Parts: sequence; C-alpha cells; structure tokens
Amino acid sequence: MNEDLNSRVEALKAQWSKAPAKMLIGGEWRESQSGETFTTENPADGTILSEVAAAGQADIDAAVAAARKAFETGPWPQMKPDQRAKLLLNLADLMEKHGDELALIETLDVGRPIQFSRMIDVGGSVGQLRYNAGWATKITGETHEVSAPGEWLSYVLREPIGVCAQIVPWNFPLVMAVGKLAPALAAGCTIVLKPAEQTPLSTLRLGQLIQEAGIPEGVVNIVTGLGRTAGAALASHMDVDKVAFTGSTATGRAIIDASKTNFKRVQLELGGKSPTFIFADADLAKAIPAAAMGIFFNAGQVCAAGSRLFVAEEVADQVLEGIAGMAKALKVGHTLDPDTVIGPLVSESQLDRVTGYIQSGQAEGADVLVGGQRKDGEGWYVEPTVLVETEASMKVRKEEIFGPVLCAARFKAEEDVERLAAYGNETEFGLAASIYTSDITKAHKLARRLKAGSVRINGSPGVDPALPLGGYKASGWGRENGKAGIEAYTELKSVTVGLG
Ligand code: NAI
Ligand code: MG
Repeated sequence: MNEDLNSRVEALKAQWSKAPAKMLIGGEWRESQSGETFTTENPADGTILSEVAAAGQADIDAAVAAARKAFETGPWPQMKPDQRAKLLLNLADLMEKHGDELALIETLDVGRPIQFSRMIDVGGSVGQLRYNAGWATKITGETHEVSAPGEWLSYVLREPIGVCAQIVPWNFPLVMAVGKLAPALAAGCTIVLKPAEQTPLSTLRLGQLIQEAGIPEGVVNIVTGLGRTAGAALASHMDVDKVAFTGSTATGRAIIDASKTNFKRVQLELGGKSPTFIFADADLAKAIPAAAMGIFFNAGQVCAAGSRLFVAEEVADQVLEGIAGMAKALKVGHTLDPDTVIGPLVSESQLDRVTGYIQSGQAEGADVLVGGQRKDGEGWYVEPTVLVETEASMKVRKEEIFGPVLCAARFKAEEDVERLAAYGNETEFGLAASIYTSDITKAHKLARRLKAGSVRINGSPGVDPALPLGGYKASGWGRENGKAGIEAYTELKSVTVGLG
C-alpha cells in the first residue's frame, strides 16, 4: 500500500475509533435514545472499524416525524423543481469532489476492491443524481376529456407520495442509497434511509454531504440499525407512506407483511438467479470474459449476477476452460491493492452460507471445475468457483448463492428457443439474463420469452439510471430507474371541474 493511501486509511480509522457514529435525524447528528450501538467491520481482515448508533423504535419515530414535518410544512415539496434539481446537482458535485474519500470508506466497510469503488459507488451515485435532477423539472400530469354530459375540465395531478422509508443492502451501499434517494427527492418526497448494518459508514458520510449541499433539514434522515428492529419498525410505521427495499426475498416478504399496517406503497428489488446463454455461434473472445465477470465481479454479491450458465455443447469445453482460466488468473487479494479484482464476502455468515452452497452442490452431484474453497488467511474470501454438470433440481441451481459461484450446464444444438427459455425461467426469480450469439433473430426471440426485468445481448452497459431495473416473479415489485423510477415516488390525483 502506498504511503498516501495508508495515511488516509489510518486517518479514517482514527476518526471512527473516537466515538460511535451518530445518525442524522431532523438535521441533527444524534446517538440512539437507548444509547445502544453495534459494530461494523472490514471484511478484508475482520477488524472492527467503528461502533455505530443502533436505532430503536423511539429513534425511528423521531426520524419519521422529522421527515413528516419536512414534507407537510417544510420547503421540500413546495420548493420550485429547478431548485430541487440544483440541490441534487450540488450533491453530485460534492460527491465527485470527495470521491476518493467515499470510495475508500466503501472499500473498507464493504470489502470492495478499491479499483471498483470509485467507478461504481461514486461514479454510479453521481450519475443517479445528475440523471434524476433532470427529472425534477419534467414531472407532468395529464388532461383528459371525460364522457359525462356537460362541460368539464379534467386533469390528473402527479404528486409526491410523501414520507418514504428506504432500506438498502450491503453489496452496493452508496450507489443503492443514492439510487433510491435521487428519484424520491426529485419527485418532492422526504426520506428515512436505513443502510445495512454491515455497511453504514459511507451513507453517514453522504449525510454530511447532503447537509453541505443545502438540502433542508428533515428532508433526508439517516438511521442506522439492525434489520429486525430498525428496519422492521420502518416497514410497519403508520406514518410512512412508502417503503422501498433492496435485499433478500425473505426480507421482502417480511416487508410486505409489515406494510399492511397502513397499506403503505411497497417497492421491492429482490434476489436473482440470472441465466447467461452462450451459443455455438457467439463471439467467444467476448462471451467468456463477460460470463466470468458476470459472476465473479464483486465476489458474486450482485443481485443480477449471471449465476447460471447454459452453454452450447459444441463450445462448452472451450468456454468452461476459458472461465476456469479466468477464475484462476483474477487477482483475489487485499481490497486496497489497486490490482485486486476479487475481494472478500461481506461477513463471516455470508462466507459460511456460500461455502455451504458449494458443498450442497457437490453433495447433489455437481463437480467443482475450479475453486470451491475458502481462501486461507484473514478475511472472508471464497475462491472463484465453477460448478459443472449441474441439474435444475439442485439447490445451487434454484437458490440465490450470492457468492462467486457459477452453476454451469450444457445444451444441445437441437434444443430450440422455447426449450432454452424454459431453462432460463426455471427458477422462482426473474431479474436479468444475458445472451451471447451472432444470430440476432434468435437473440431477440429468446429475449422476448425470458421472464426477466433486464436482458443483455452480447454485452452489458451495467446499471444505467435511464433503464428500468427490477424483476419479474419473486425478484420484486416495481422498477427503479428511468421514468418508471420517478413515477414510483408519485401518486395520481384526478381533479374534475364542472364548467356548466
Ligand atoms: P436482508 O435482505 O435481510 O438485508 C437487507 C436490508 O434489509 C438491510 O438493511 C437489513 O437491515 C434490512 N432488514 C433485514 N430484516 C428486515 C426486516 N425484517 N424489516 C425491514 N428491514 C430488514 O439480507 P441479508 O440477510 O443481509 O443477506 C442474505 C441474502 O440476501 C444474501 O445472501 C443474498 O442472497 C440476499 N441479498 C440480496 C441483495 C440484492 O441486491 N438483491 C442484497 C443483499 C442481500
Ligand atoms: Mg462493514
């Protein structure tokens, strides 16, 4: 590690070790009312980075009350849209200015290799803010001619939903927080945001930048705490109008149940088990690295990871050898090393979960082509792994592993698009799919038949704020990003005026 990076790491650690990190409620930085805290660690070595305030019901009530006040009497929904846009752009500039620091915090708290944190977490967040700032001035209602006798003026207002709870997971804390905040703020909503307990630190730094950007107090409140307490209190709160969640399907179900208290609107981006199809006529020089990075990037902790591979029999050996070669060559290492490509999993419990799945795959008859083990030494590292000869009935083919584990299977030349679509659709999930072929007709036909919210043909531009993101089936409710993402933070109101 170079000296400059080392001293920046030490400075952050010194700051975190001084006192428990506080929460942002109504423009003030507060401890939890109970005084309780939890700790967050660096997954690369298992060391504790910071104590953090653990919100209980009273803190959640205070944060929701602050957001309610900012919504009902504060300036935010009433503020002119171009002013809201300007404040979002201010925040984007500040995130860019402090990008190195934000990236470093993310790397330390999440375990993301440093070369990706700047690009994904900071770059992605800035992109979300600038894209959604543009929407603030472009949210429109409609006018209609009604069929009743008489003369009428009929119009539909599009209004902000109100107080929104946003519950974010640990795999991309900053960009997911900003990806939720930005459209909600552009639409005029106020927010209580809860980062995951494994990764609260970048979101708390974001809170300081939100204040510095000039976003009024109470508009964004940040509460840190555990899912079963703080998260559950938000999801069931009677004064929250909407809950937006990204995370596991199981917690998604719990949030639906909790939301019944007041019928709050629910938006869910849940797990996936996304297929990659590689046909015999694919450009393999492109398809092999794409399939490898599709599952190994971020150590597989990606909702849309390409975790199932269906490869044409004619090229299967070549493709699998190519992916296995990459699995061995990609640098698995310390997250602050600029050459590291694969970092650790976020926690010891995720490590146990992922290695447990690898063992279960073997027990059910899959073979390990490469990897398969925990990496020796400190930190929660798992080797990039390819399981071959997998079958649809195996747990590893059905459930989200959320680690660097590819489940591969071969298909025969005579299997048509319908059959392949059935493979793609065989799980309860429907988040994403990738297709590699030079036959564009076949690619489009398969794309239409796949039950997946995003289909990528011959490459992926990554997550773009303009493109709707979300899932079919158990992968969730609703779409984030794009026009749909803004509209998801609005309510429609039909107004009719009798003109005589
Ligand atoms: P989780 O879904 O339980 O946690 C995500 C967020 O939900 C965190 O902020 C957590 O505090 C909160 N939460 C937990 N229980 C809650 C409740 N009852 N009410 C309200 N909020 C609650 O995910 P977890 O346990 O950390 O990871 C388990 C698995 O979930 C992973 O192995 C992976 O398969 C999946 N997952 C999927 C993600 C995705 O991007 N789709 C992200 C994170 C996890
Ligand atoms: Mg952490």
